Formats: sequence, structure tokens, C-alpha cells
Amino acid sequence: MRPIRIALTKGRLEKNSITLFEEMGLDCSELKNKGRRLVLPVDKYEVVLAKAADVITYVEHGVCDIGIVGKDTIAENNRSFYEVTDLGFGKCKFALATKSGTEFWGGYDVKCIATKYPNVARKFFESKGMDVRIIKIEGSVELAPLLKLSDAIVDIVETGATIKENGLEVIEDIMPISARVIVNMASMKLRKEEIESFLTDIEKAKEAL
Ligand code: PRP
Repeated sequence: MRPIRIALTKGRLEKNSITLFEEMGLDCSELKNKGRRLVLPVDKYEVVLAKAADVITYVEHGVCDIGIVGKDTIAENNRSFYEVTDLGFGKCKFALATKSGTEFWGGYDVKCIATKYPNVARKFFESKGMDVRIIKIEGSVELAPLLKLSDAIVDIVETGATIKENGLEVIEDIMPISARVIVNMASMKLRKEEIESFLTDIEKAKEAL
């Protein structure tokens, strides 16, 4: 049988995840010297480095048993897996922002919202019973209101610096975000002991972070 395979989100969550694995007593030397490799042995586990959206695809399809991914990606993609642990790092939030000093809520015209997260945005405005037009942008969403493409954005805010430096302001918080552990549904049953032992170790280690 292959080792338990963990899909790890490349980039922002990588450093804290390595600290967490080391706290669990796992040998991360290969992962720390990965070069251009994408599949790495981490002790008795195998770690796969992937983009956030692909982490959940690999876990949903069972080619990875466990995933470490942000709640933002989970919230945007309605997919099947267990979300088992909040790791408490990678903290940020989804927020609604406009150009500073703009009156967003008033008026009868249908507002235009730019976002990388159309499903999150749609749900947010549905919960308010508000009809909006959503435009999908791939990155640097802050540009859209500056170029007058949209009235507002739904985006991730971490330090708030990007918003501030581009003359925007948050007008409503939508949802807190942090890194989560997800588990494939079949693996949870078929490799129960190994997964449970990993999750127990992760719970202990995260307290020490
Ligand atoms: C995210 C987000 C904001 C920025 C917020 O972008 O979309 O642009 O981080 O961070 P701050 O509040 O600390 O300034 P990311 O770096 O993921 O890239 P993107 O703009 O290409 O989506």
C-alpha cells in the first residue's frame, strides 16, 4: 500500500505547515530542500505540493488522503470531503470593499462586484436578498473599482495594506479564513487508524505552535 499522501498548498501556507510537521516530530529535510520537486517524502508520509484549488481536487478524488488548504478555497468550491481541523494559521478574512468614501448600499441600480470568488460573493449577496452582477477577476481584484469596472470587490484581506494603499476600504466583513485539514471520505474509512493517528498528532502539535 502506498504511504498516506498529504496535499499541501504551495506558497502562503507552506512555511507554517512545515513548522507544524516538525512539531509533530516528522523529518522535513527533503521538503525543506525540495528544489523543483513536487512529490516529497516526509517521514512515513508523502507530501504533494499543489495550488490550493488542486489540493481539494486531489483530496476529493482520493489520490491524496489528506489536504492542507485555506477556508477561502473550501468556501468557493462546493466539493465532497471531510473538513476536520482548523489549524489556526493563515488567518485572514473575506471582506466587501469599495473606494473610500463611496456610498455602496444606497440607490436602486444593480451593483457590480468584482471578485476571484464568485460563489462566495453570490452567497453573501443572496443572504442579504440583494441582486448584484458579479464579474470574475483572476488576481489583483483591487484594480476593478479603481478602473470603474465594479462598484465593489469581494476579496481576501490579510493585513489590509493592499486595500489601504489603493484607496479602498472594507465596508463589511464576510467570513473569517484560516488553514484547514481536509480528508478524503473513503480514506477516512479505509485507512482510519493511520489518518486518526495523523490527526491526533496534528492536534497536539498545533497547540505548541
Ligand atoms: C491577496 C488578496 C489581496 C491581498 C491582501 O492577494 O487578493 O490582494 O492578498 O493582502 P493584505 O491585506 O495583507 O494586503 P494574493 O497575494 O493572494 O494575490 P492576488 O491578488 O493575485 O489574488
